[in-house]
Amino acid sequence: MAVARMNMNCSIQSSLSCILKPSSFFNFRTTHFRNRVFPTGNNFVAPKRSLLCTCSSNGNSNAFQTGEKAEPFVVTTPLYYVNAPPHMGSAYTTIAADAIARFQRLLGKRVVFITGTDEHGEKIATAAAAGGSGPREHCDVISQAYKMLWNDLDIAYDKFIRTTDPKHEAIVEEFYSRVLANDDIYRADYEGLYCVNCEEYKDEKELLENNCCPTHLKPCVPRKEDNYFFALSKYQKPLEEILAQNPDFVQPSYRLNEVQSWIKNGLRDFSISRAAVDWGIPVPNDNKQTIYVWFDALLGYISALLEDKDQPNLQSAVSSGWPASLHLIGKDILRFHAVYWPAMLMSAGLSLPKRVFGHGFLTKDGMKMGKSLGNTIEPNELVDKFGADAVRYFFLREVEFGNDGDYSEDRFINIVNAHLANTIGNLLNRTLGLLKKNCQSTLVVDSSIAAEGKEFKDTVERLVEKARIHYENLALSSACEAVLEIGNAGNLYMDKHQPWSLFKQGGDAFEAAAKDLVIILETMRIIAIALSPVAPSLCRRIHAQLGYSEDQFDNLNWVHTLSLFLNIVKTKWGGLKGGQVMAQPKPVFARIEQIKENENGGAEAPKKVVKKKEEKATGSRGDRSLGVPISEDSLPLMSFGPQSVEISLTLSIHHHDDTSTAIYPRVSMLRSCISGMKSGVCEAISEVYVW
Ligand code: MSP
Repeated sequence: MAVARMNMNCSIQSSLSCILKPSSFFNFRTTHFRNRVFPTGNNFVAPKRSLLCTCSSNGNSNAFQTGEKAEPFVVTTPLYYVNAPPHMGSAYTTIAADAIARFQRLLGKRVVFITGTDEHGEKIATAAAAGGSGPREHCDVISQAYKMLWNDLDIAYDKFIRTTDPKHEAIVEEFYSRVLANDDIYRADYEGLYCVNCEEYKDEKELLENNCCPTHLKPCVPRKEDNYFFALSKYQKPLEEILAQNPDFVQPSYRLNEVQSWIKNGLRDFSISRAAVDWGIPVPNDNKQTIYVWFDALLGYISALLEDKDQPNLQSAVSSGWPASLHLIGKDILRFHAVYWPAMLMSAGLSLPKRVFGHGFLTKDGMKMGKSLGNTIEPNELVDKFGADAVRYFFLREVEFGNDGDYSEDRFINIVNAHLANTIGNLLNRTLGLLKKNCQSTLVVDSSIAAEGKEFKDTVERLVEKARIHYENLALSSACEAVLEIGNAGNLYMDKHQPWSLFKQGGDAFEAAAKDLVIILETMRIIAIALSPVAPSLCRRIHAQLGYSEDQFDNLNWVHTLSLFLNIVKTKWGGLKGGQVMAQPKPVFARIEQIKENENGGAEAPKKVVKKKEEKATGSRGDRSLGVPISEDSLPLMSFGPQSVEISLTLSIHHHDDTSTAIYPRVSMLRSCISGMKSGVCEAISEVYVW
């Protein structure tokens, strides 16, 4: 049985702390860290809610904040270990953070979105050695892989911090000295079971058979070390009080219960240095030890705030936006963020972050997807196959933020096709098609006039407000759902009013149909704003189809979705104006099709998945225009044999003058799609692709 034993054996660090306590330090701290908790020896003055100001409600009070003076919204992802390239699990947190950051920017807030890489410690050094490179070179390569993936996933971060950055190292050293000056660091022996993947000593009772770590399923190893310790136990009471007074500090609420029960069971001091690890920041005044990777990495949230011109010290960093508004993390690192980190900050006299949100895991076959278990999904492959919007939308829509979620390719394709290609893409495309045919792609009237007295406009406004509240509450899946409801409402409106028939009737009916199209296109404009945090490129394409420029998309604001918000009177249902010319209709989101590699292979046959780039799908129009009436005989594609080649043709189908465009990779699909139609015209609008 492993023994966890700790002896206070040395007072070097505590005696140093006296030297490091200049009287000016107190002034400095009270001036610049107004929200600090004041330590008085080993006892704490209980923080008053208003003084500590650790947690603001996540409600709506700050919505639509504008202006440079306003507090920034600082959102962070964890700093990812660079022992291996990113996988879908790591991408998940970053996608969510990006959606939240984009939403906050839409509210007019100044946002600082921080991400980065955690580059010190034993497992990084081991991974570098295994790959035959030095740790620095290894970190450069993997850190770059993260940046490239973020670029491919449309992640618009503001700060990327690497924990090997000398400025970060200076911040860690200063922070360590402050904690030391507060008498919270002492030296002791420790013996226990260590999980290298978690970089953490474990309690035997939390381990599985053979002392395996429950997260990484690998045996923990016995370790005995002479380390420096952080006096976490001193912070038990203040932490209990903070959590009691600020129930929103840890979210979702069920994770708060977990944190409270850890604390209630008693907090043990933890070791913050490693004697056996060279690859790290040396402990100030003892270069035989390096600082524990977590004590180092958490400070990245503060050092990331430094501007290039800044001196690398805590004062500069903190004045650029600390405390963070929101730490987004996975549930496995909750203890570090909701217990260790606040205690460290209190010890150093710094404000606590306002909110820590612990999301669930992406799993494969029920197990956490991860580098250690080797059961990952390659985000690069997903992005290459399906595009960033589809990947972002699927994971945010499918996995309720906070819960675990399993990935399945079939489900991915079904969701993305149904929501993005059909409900949203097709609504836009068929409306623009009708407008082109009947109104020369020009809006006949302002959208505000078109919607006068229509309940439909109220429905859209109610739903967009619902989406806003869900975004505010980090209910990202529900926010997507509310936007999709707008699309559904738009499709229902079209089906009910049948503008294609009204156009044929002429006179007042024609006018009503032209107004209906304006209403739907205004709805699409609102969707393009409301879904842009989740699917930014798709929304940019939608916006461009409505005749807007790139700059106009970049300057969008959530108030542009509303007709009236509080006292900000901006008639924003009504963004589209009469006379505005729409772009040529092009599919904004191409359907993904699954093709069995072997037609005779039955249900188990491997499938090949095809998604054409939207640009390709909308490519050269005209020269292959078939313009033939639909009948099985007249479709020239029918001559292909069932298994010989796979073909895909982008077709525009005019059925009773309602135009829809879709990609049909197989003749049989096209055949079944048109079989219910009595008449119509099928027009090819792009090249035939042959695989
Ligand atoms: N380096 C630390 C974090 C330090 S923050 C100051 C670390 N890195 S990590 O690369 O192992 O994990 C980073 C994040 O990715 C964690 O929030 C973790 O929960 C998340 N995920 C890793 N695998 C995941 C899934 N399969 N699903 C969802 N998120 C997962 O911990």
